[in-house]
Amino acid sequence: MVQGFVNLNTEKNKEWLQEYVDGWVDFFRKQTDTGKVADYIPKLEEADPNTLGITIIGKDGMQIRSGDLDHSFSIQSISKVLSFIVACMDRGITYVLQRVDVEPTGEAFNSIVHLAINSSNRPFNPMVNAGAITVSSLLNGNTSDEKLEPLFQLMENMIGYRPELDIDVYVSERDTSMRNRAIGYYLLEEGYLESDLGVTLETYFKQCSINITTDDLARMGLILSNDGVHPETEEVIIPKNVARIAKSLMLTCGMYDASGKFASYVGIPAKSGVSGGILAVVPPRVRDNDLPFLDGCGIGVFGPALDKQGNSVSGIKLLRHIANSWDMSLF
Ligand code: DON
Repeated sequence: MVQGFVNLNTEKNKEWLQEYVDGWVDFFRKQTDTGKVADYIPKLEEADPNTLGITIIGKDGMQIRSGDLDHSFSIQSISKVLSFIVACMDRGITYVLQRVDVEPTGEAFNSIVHLAINSSNRPFNPMVNAGAITVSSLLNGNTSDEKLEPLFQLMENMIGYRPELDIDVYVSERDTSMRNRAIGYYLLEEGYLESDLGVTLETYFKQCSINITTDDLARMGLILSNDGVHPETEEVIIPKNVARIAKSLMLTCGMYDASGKFASYVGIPAKSGVSGGILAVVPPRVRDNDLPFLDGCGIGVFGPALDKQGNSVSGIKLLRHIANSWDMSLF
């Protein structure tokens, strides 16, 4: 734990914090031997496994940015948080939760095992593919572009610009994603989908292919940390009750079958994606010590070497170290 500092959230101390984070990034960047870049989507295979970048943005606007920051990457499964938020905002929480549950699976993100044995008659949660594809089918609109418009709008409200689709990633995923098609057919047979299967899958593949940066992830995390309110404009971007469910889903299901370990060792809501991004949310906390970012912050990490569960190896190590050093755990 960082001790003996006063008023850490001031620009004066930013220099010290920056030095710490720079050192940690350099250290963890080299710790990727247990990881592997995703290769099941050909375009993702091109990433350099030793890339590591992080952005932290606090409620007071203080930013720590370190490592490889000039990379953009596809949002992948982190989009599941955003599509769930859009669906809840447009259709209502009750409606959405009648169609997708909020229980962890303990299985891989693309598992088909649990589909057939869920007694609640709906996919387990919106963070695994079965639940996320169901959520994509709930988005309003007849085409994938119509369905994605509110998602782009939400992102623009959160990050300050309209992000773009990476067409190569989209095509790469669309042409290879047999498992997701299988999940889609199963969902269709069970009557879970509210839209045409082709449109639903196109929507899901496109939402995963939106390009973002660690800065964008940190901004999104900050708004979630601030209960859906933009800290500068004070505009309500996401209703508080929707933001709350999104954060609880991130904590319980966001790191897939490693969510329990992540909650135990890091202790903050987070969502990973197979391109190596992690969106993390540090809610405001009450502590005796003068620690950085006590009013809450958003953290975006990018490290493309993944562990077995599909989470960034160096990203998790870095987040764990920062959360422990600065006492960020909720628990
Ligand atoms: O469904 C897929 O295969 C991907 N486009 C998204 C999966 C993903 O990011 C899983 N995360 N770790």
